[in-house]
Order: sequence, then structure tokens, then C-alpha cells
Amino acid sequence: MTPISRTIVITGASSGIGKALALRYARKRTVLGLMGRSIARLNKVADECRQLGAAVQVAVLDVRARSEMEQWLQDFDNRTPIDILIANAGVMAGRPTDAAIESSPASNALLETNVLGVLNSIQPVLPQMMARRRGQIGIVSSLAAFVPLPDAPSYCASKSAVLTYGLALRNALRQSGIGVSVVCPGYVMTPMMQQESGWKPFAIPPDTAADIIVRGLRRNRSIIAFPFLFALVTRVGGLLPDSVRRWTMPRFTVGERTLFD
Ligand SMILES: NC(=O)c1ccc[n+]([C@@H]2O[C@H](COP(=O)([O-])OP(=O)(O)OC[C@H]3O[C@@H](n4cnc5c(N)ncnc54)[C@H](OP(=O)(O)O)[C@@H]3O)[C@@H](O)[C@H]2O)c1
Repeated sequence: MTPISRTIVITGASSGIGKALALRYARKRTVLGLMGRSIARLNKVADECRQLGAAVQVAVLDVRARSEMEQWLQDFDNRTPIDILIANAGVMAGRPTDAAIESSPASNALLETNVLGVLNSIQPVLPQMMARRRGQIGIVSSLAAFVPLPDAPSYCASKSAVLTYGLALRNALRQSGIGVSVVCPGYVMTPMMQQESGWKPFAIPPDTAADIIVRGLRRNRSIIAFPFLFALVTRVGGLLPDSVRRWTMPRFTVGERTLFD
């Protein structure tokens, strides 16, 4: 049997950035664990990855389902110890056009997916990674973590939460041999973003995003923020007084979604 060189788990691998990451990592002697809710889309990505030489296992799981996530991740890790885990699955939603604020069910579902879903993806594998004293964790946040968009308070809050969680976890694990990187993309032209009608400065394709993320994880960067210029503007913008910053906000719109069935 050919020896395995690397095992990578990606949540939200059925589409967009997760799919691009799966294809970017797919090669011989690599085992991929690909997670998502859509079996059809996951199988399509898995087939493409197998054609590139990777061994693939798919898991049809909702990241909000804590005990199912724990069981699958621990079983998978027992069979093939995970080297890289990327908690990428996420949803984006904002206020309906005819309302001033988001609906409460949408906010709850978004925070459960984007925040608790990240914890459910990472926490089950940490004890085993710590025992092995190796591993790399990637948490997909957003540049929206730095800028509170009035159309999408819950989305921005969810991305700030996982940014802070990831940076704190990175320091907690500093002596343990495990790296933690927080990924903060700007606009990436995935199905999620294609649904948005607002202004999308510096938008990049998913393949370019995947290249930047893979490079950043390899270097164990604390924050992988891109594209460079937009990341700089956004992070500086986040430091502006609210009275100044709010004049720049109206061009960035996020509409309501029905992603929580
Ligand atoms: N695109 C951007 O411009 C951008 C910018 C900043 C940050 N991000 C972040 O990047 C990540 C990926 O987004 P994307 O743009 O690639 O969006 P996407 O094309 O819509 O992909 C989202 C992925 O997350 C999965 N997912 C969503 N909810 C899930 C759940 N409850 N359980 C399991 N899987 C779930 C989806 O799979 P199923 O539908 O099969 O469940 C899909 O594979 C998200 O965290 C997003 O917030 C994106």
C-alpha cells in the first residue's frame, strides 16, 4: 500500500472556497475528508479530487450537529490522523430589503453555523492533535470581522467571534506544536458571493483564494487576510471612529437568505 503523506479535513467542501481548497490539496498520497450538507455537490468534488490522485471520504453533516460532528471527526482521526483541519463552512445573510434589522431565526441559525459550527469542527480533534504534538488548524473568518456592516450585524459578529477565538486558541496552543491561522478573505466569487448585488471591490476567483490560504497555512500565519490592498483598507477602516466609518458603509449590501432549511 502507498504510504499516506498528508490528511486534510475541510468543512464546507461542496462549494466555493472549500471546493477550491479540496482541489488544491488533492494529489497522490493525500487523504481528504470533505464535509458539507449536499451529497450531490460533495460527490462531484470528491470525484474531481480522486481524479487528481487523492483518497477521499465524504461526510454529509451539518456543522451545527455537535455530537455527529464529534463522532465522525474522531473516527476519521483514529483511522487517518488529521494534519490540517480547515473550518470553512459558513453562511452569509443580512436584513431583508423591507426591514430595518435581521430576523431573529436567521440570526440564530447564522451564529450557530458560523460560530458554533467552527467550534464543533475543531474541538473534537484538538486532544488527539495535542497528543501527537502536530497539526494545523485554519478557521475561515472574513474581512467583515473588522468592519461592522449595518446590513449584516450577525454575519460580522460571527466572523469577529471566530477571529478572536482563533487568535486566542493560537496562543493557547503555542507550546503544543499545533498552528492556528485565521483566514480573512475579502470578496471571493463563490456561489455565496454571486448572490450579492452590492459593490465587490477587489473580487478574486476561488482558486486564487485557495492558493493564498494554502500558502498562509503552510507558513502558519496568524491572520491570512487578502487581497492585500483591500485587507489593508478594511483593517484601517475598522480603526476609524464610527461617525466617519458609517459614511463608507452604504455601498456594501448583504441581502437576506433562506439558507437555513
Ligand atoms: N465568498 C466570499 O467572498 C467570502 C468572503 C469572506 C469569507 N467567506 C467565508 O468563506 C467560507 C466559505 O464561503 P463560500 O464563499 O465558499 O460560500 P459557498 O460557496 O456558499 O460555500 C459554503 C460552504 O459551506 C457549507 N455549509 C454551509 N452551511 C453549512 C452547515 N450548516 N453545515 C455544513 N456545511 C455547511 C456549504 O455546503 P452545503 O451547502 O453542502 O451544506 C458550502 O460547501 C464561509 O465561512 C464564508 O463566510 C467568504
